Amino acid sequence: MTSLKNQTVVVVGGTSGIGFAVALASLHAQASHVIVVSSTTDKVSDAVKRLTAIATEHRLNGTVTGSNLDVGSAEDVKKFFKKIGEIDHVVYTSGDALKLGFKDVDLGTLKETFDVRFWSAALVAQQAQIKAGGSITLTGGVASIKPPVDWPIIAGVSGAIDSLVRGLAVDLAPVRVNSVSPGAIVTESWDRMPSHFKDKLVADLSEKLLVKHVGQPAEIADAYVFLMKCGFITGETISVNGGHTLS
Ligand SMILES: NC(=O)c1ccc[n+]([C@@H]2O[C@H](COP(=O)([O-])OP(=O)(O)OC[C@H]3O[C@@H](n4cnc5c(N)ncnc54)[C@H](OP(=O)(O)O)[C@@H]3O)[C@@H](O)[C@H]2O)c1
Repeated sequence: MTSLKNQTVVVVGGTSGIGFAVALASLHAQASHVIVVSSTTDKVSDAVKRLTAIATEHRLNGTVTGSNLDVGSAEDVKKFFKKIGEIDHVVYTSGDALKLGFKDVDLGTLKETFDVRFWSAALVAQQAQIKAGGSITLTGGVASIKPPVDWPIIAGVSGAIDSLVRGLAVDLAPVRVNSVSPGAIVTESWDRMPSHFKDKLVADLSEKLLVKHVGQPAEIADAYVFLMKCGFITGETISVNGGHTLS
């Protein structure tokens, strides 16, 4: 069995939701050092504290550190990767609040949908110094294949990630570049919805999805770990969506 033994994993967006679960799954896969990164100081220190506590409880050997970085600042991203030097893997799960709508919306206000999810992801892939055998894993979304009403721009950015990783896999070879395309995964990001709306969405999706439940972050984290561990996969997107596209 392969593992992440003696490897350093940087999770950009690792202080919450899917990224936090990837950081934890990396520790379980024996990563020696996991660095969680995001733009809010408190979230970084809280995530480091929570991950360290779990690692101690489960007697996992990896160390956890955190870094405060707003991926919107190209200069800061460049400085960060220069400072940390060579790493084995970078996982990118950063995402800001979704801006929905299309028909009645000034499209100029939707352009920033691509900032954190696409342009900063591309910059991170460009700047990370990945060791031989290492990988970069980005995050798209099921909306690229099955967008609900009001999601055309999110569908666009999600599909752009799937295409981006194919291009990056060619440009950055032999570094492997892949993406994970999540379906409905209940994370802290869902807390931005009014609670009655969130509860109804969870109930409706649980009824509709083939697996009869919405996803938990831990259920998708293993897909990222697989992409880090498997030395023979590049330029691919793994969909983890509970049968969303078939339901
Ligand atoms: N959850 C789902 O159902 C689902 C489905 C499809 C696709 N996705 C995609 O998967 C990704 C992760 O989603 P999630 O649900 O795990 O979201 P989440 O819980 O809100 O986590 C997002 C992470 O991104 C970080 N972040 C946001 N803006 C940043 C910035 N400017 N610089 C650095 N880090 C930043 C956040 O920390 P700070 O606030 O501290 O910066 C946080 O750690 C997103 O791109 C989302 O669109 C999610």
